[in-house]
Amino acid sequence: MKQQLREEQFFMSTEEPDDIFVARTTDEFIYDQHGKRYIDFNAGWCVGNLGWAKKEIRSKVKAAKVPDYIAPGYHYRGWGELAELLASIAPGELRKSVRATGGTEAVEAAMQIAMLYTGRTKFLSIEGSYHGNSIGTLSIGASENREQFTNLLPNCIKIKPPLDDKAAEKVKARLKNKDVAALIMEPVICNLGVMIPEHAFMKSVSALCRQYGTLLVIDEVACGFGRTGKLFACEHFDLEPDILCLAKAITGGFAPLGACMTTKKIASKVVKKGFQFYSTYGWHPLAVEAALANIRYWKKNQAKIFGNVAALSQVFTDGLSQMKFKKGANLRILGLAIGIEVSDAQYADRIQKKSLKKGLLFTTESKTLTLFPPLTMKRAIAKEGLEILESCL
Ligand SMILES: Cc1ncc(COP(=O)(O)O)c(C=O)c1O
Repeated sequence: MKQQLREEQFFMSTEEPDDIFVARTTDEFIYDQHGKRYIDFNAGWCVGNLGWAKKEIRSKVKAAKVPDYIAPGYHYRGWGELAELLASIAPGELRKSVRATGGTEAVEAAMQIAMLYTGRTKFLSIEGSYHGNSIGTLSIGASENREQFTNLLPNCIKIKPPLDDKAAEKVKARLKNKDVAALIMEPVICNLGVMIPEHAFMKSVSALCRQYGTLLVIDEVACGFGRTGKLFACEHFDLEPDILCLAKAITGGFAPLGACMTTKKIASKVVKKGFQFYSTYGWHPLAVEAALANIRYWKKNQAKIFGNVAALSQVFTDGLSQMKFKKGANLRILGLAIGIEVSDAQYADRIQKKSLKKGLLFTTESKTLTLFPPLTMKRAIAKEGLEILESCL
């Protein structure tokens, strides 16, 4: 049976996939079954930050002599090692990890911790955002989901962008009743076409959270692990989150794994209150090996990687700002999180489809082209990709 037909018959597909059957991935390239090469300006949407098939990670996963599986109720050498490693790179006072299989679970755990710690049930988040696919995480995401799911959690309040002084005032008005468990947001909102909040906004909301006893939950599932030119995007704003959610690039794409991190103080209170979160496949031994290898690589090579991010970010800024988009474009770029807002969603879609045919991969978010190239991409390849993009405008 033809592959496409088989998928049509047996998959409950929600979105029309891009017309490419992936056969192989390496460095900054994806190859289809006919050997056609695509330049990857997507990196699995912030998963393959170090490029695909990174040999330093792959070799460790392949050589790993680990048990097939460890049930959540046991001790395991790799869990302690990974939790310790995460504590060594996390911002502020974050020392304790909850084991998860991905981003949705990490954010779900964060919501449960915030409810138990504060005894409150309300959440504040950014309108239009995305934090995962469970009922809990959908509830703090875009309100449009409410049209499909009328049973979403009540008491999830949204702050509408732009994230400026006025929005900070609205946050204050919501927090001062002292009934909001957590403010949850991406520090650089990849899911809103790379929206970069104003510094003053982030400073005020973080102070307001402290003032009113609301936990600050920072979702770095997409923007963590170097995407914005810092290991964690919250470092741009000197934030000290109460809870940090990680997934995607934490393993470099070799296996699914998520982590929800919090402080010792918060952890000890919620554990006493009966926090019981666990996940059957949370921190599977192979995924742990991949995360350990990935984070150790980061620790050793951070300066080199960020040097490349800075240089590449300039290549993209220069290349994109001189391109002639129909009716102009608004470029938002921090490190290698890149959003190019064009005149309308149809135009964005046309550019994306044309680029795909010519061997360049990226995604769109409404009328914004979203580019998340590997942080290790070679400059010549970035330029080649930009030339393809320009030829599709
Ligand atoms: C910011 C953010 N949070 C959470 C998630 C959910 O992560 P996962 O798909 O691993 O469950 C995503 C996924 O795209 C995300 O971008």
